[in-house]
Amino acid sequence: MSSAVTTMERASQLRFLTCGSVDDGKSTLIGRLLYDSKLIMDDHLYALESDSRKHGTTGEDIDFALLVDGLEAEREQGITIDVAYRFFTTPRRSFIVADTPGHEQYSRNMATGASNCDLAIILIDARKGVLTQTLRHSLIAHLLGIKSVVLAVNKMDLVDFDRTRFDEIVADYRAKTARHAFEQFVAIPMSARFGDNVTTRSERSAWYEGPTLIDHLEVVQPPAGGGSQAFRMPVQWINRPNLDFRGYSGTIVSGSVAVGDLIAVPRSGLTSRVTGLIGPTGPLDRASAGDAITLTISDEIDISRGDVLAPANDRPEVSNQFAAHLFWMAKDALMVGRPYLIKLGTATELATITGIGHRVDVNTGEHAQAKNLQMNEIGFCNIHLARPTVFEPYADNQALGSFIIIDRFSNQTVGAGMVEYGLRRGTNIHAQPADVTRQQLAAIKGQEPCVIWLTGLSGSGKSTIANILQRKLTMLGAHSFILDGDNVRMGLNKDLSFSEADRVENIRRVGEVAKLMVDAGLIVICSFISPFRADRAMVRELLPDGEFVEVHVDTPLDVAEARDVKGLYAKARAGKIKNFTGIDSPYEAPDAAEIVVDTAALSAEEAADAILARISPRLGRTA
Ligand code: ADX
Repeated sequence: MSSAVTTMERASQLRFLTCGSVDDGKSTLIGRLLYDSKLIMDDHLYALESDSRKHGTTGEDIDFALLVDGLEAEREQGITIDVAYRFFTTPRRSFIVADTPGHEQYSRNMATGASNCDLAIILIDARKGVLTQTLRHSLIAHLLGIKSVVLAVNKMDLVDFDRTRFDEIVADYRAKTARHAFEQFVAIPMSARFGDNVTTRSERSAWYEGPTLIDHLEVVQPPAGGGSQAFRMPVQWINRPNLDFRGYSGTIVSGSVAVGDLIAVPRSGLTSRVTGLIGPTGPLDRASAGDAITLTISDEIDISRGDVLAPANDRPEVSNQFAAHLFWMAKDALMVGRPYLIKLGTATELATITGIGHRVDVNTGEHAQAKNLQMNEIGFCNIHLARPTVFEPYADNQALGSFIIIDRFSNQTVGAGMVEYGLRRGTNIHAQPADVTRQQLAAIKGQEPCVIWLTGLSGSGKSTIANILQRKLTMLGAHSFILDGDNVRMGLNKDLSFSEADRVENIRRVGEVAKLMVDAGLIVICSFISPFRADRAMVRELLPDGEFVEVHVDTPLDVAEARDVKGLYAKARAGKIKNFTGIDSPYEAPDAAEIVVDTAALSAEEAADAILARISPRLGRTA
């Protein structure tokens, strides 16, 4: 779509975003714009007139909301599910409306950076005034880099086109958005339903001297966003139809490239020359932003999906850490320290939010301290990626500066964000090689080290099994160490509570310590409730394959509770301990543990033997 857009066309074209719920009249407004610009297809119009009479809420008038909602329904049926844009034209300008329902709007815009909206229409219901939602939309528009805003004070007919009410709303809005004041701002009193001040000036608001919405949209010149014009192409796939051809396919997100250019793969630092460009219609000499191409180069260098091609003398940043604004969209709060997937450009990597600098209070714009982000909250976070990755600040390059966060288990998009700046810390720390290797350290001990990770409810018998196992290992001459929840929480982790966020951090630290001990050559027995799957997976990934042995100490809640060795279940039931696993905090059982110990069938001694049997090959030289 955008591939054919030339600079000229871009100038006479306006891309905008409408923010507001259906209740505020968003559908009606878009419907009205489409209808008045006479671009509704005749059959749609016919259906609309008869539907309005049947279902509408507007008597004999046309209910424009039905038009848009009708198109939406069509979309929901899967016909054009990805069409997030509506197009319409007036004699003076053509328009693209980025129109997607609810949250999807922001995730899509943030995620792709593709909509490149120039302006946002923020709808307000004149009866309700400025709502939290209005301010949230405004903040997101601001973060998306939109500098031009129309405040559409809608449903003015329901407040008798009262000028005082209008002035009050505008003043309130300006005061509450003062922190991120938009460079260009117009407020228009309107009634989308009756068309007042949408395309025709209303006599009912004679006091209003500004433009109608369409007048404004036709002439407004939003401030240019700036941004880099350097060539960037995230590689989507390696095109290798046969052994004689190898091309790199993707869409150019900025700048242009020509045959003969020297390009680099910033992640590896390798360079090569462009030998060919192939577009949808055949070979090209030059290609630019928006073009989907396959590019060939003169050298066989290692390039994979997620790499970004750039001019050798103008490369983007490569790092594994950046600071970003993050909009959280999931019911489950964001957990600092927990690994998620991040999609940035065409790269998908593991990422953890390592810290939240502040949360933005959408009502006041103020910054508040935060340990996590709840649904709909926006925070300024540090994000750490598992591998160095190419990104750019959103202000320089929307496509390489926007990303989404995906939950690894549900595959849901849980957050969307914009990179503010790279953090150099990540790039200035280099691993210090030691002359003695972990293999040598293990060899001295005559064993292959590993982590034996016992997970299960409190009172399931983890610590007892750990203890017996260590005794047996010691008798065999093996070198081991126990990391146990209660003990670690008396020292290293004494600052941590049992909130979800602190449990994530508990396991993260323990995982790192266990890894160091494995590097030192030890067999590390970890005994932690570790109730969350994602966190156990994180520890597993810290270690080489085969060095993490997950043991589910499987004791039903009623059995553990009946034992109640430490009297904690009784206290939890009495409400004296909060967030107690199994009572008012969840336990996510492993679904692919290496060993499952059924404590109803096995004694602790037998459980320890079962684990020992499994790891005995690692004790090769001593057992
Ligand atoms: S974890 O969830 O973060 O992995 P960990 O294994 O370190 O927990 O600590 C669990 C131990 O702390 C339990 O065996 C119990 O003795 C004690 N404890 C105190 N409060 C709680 C609680 N709210 N939930 C679970 N265990 C608790």
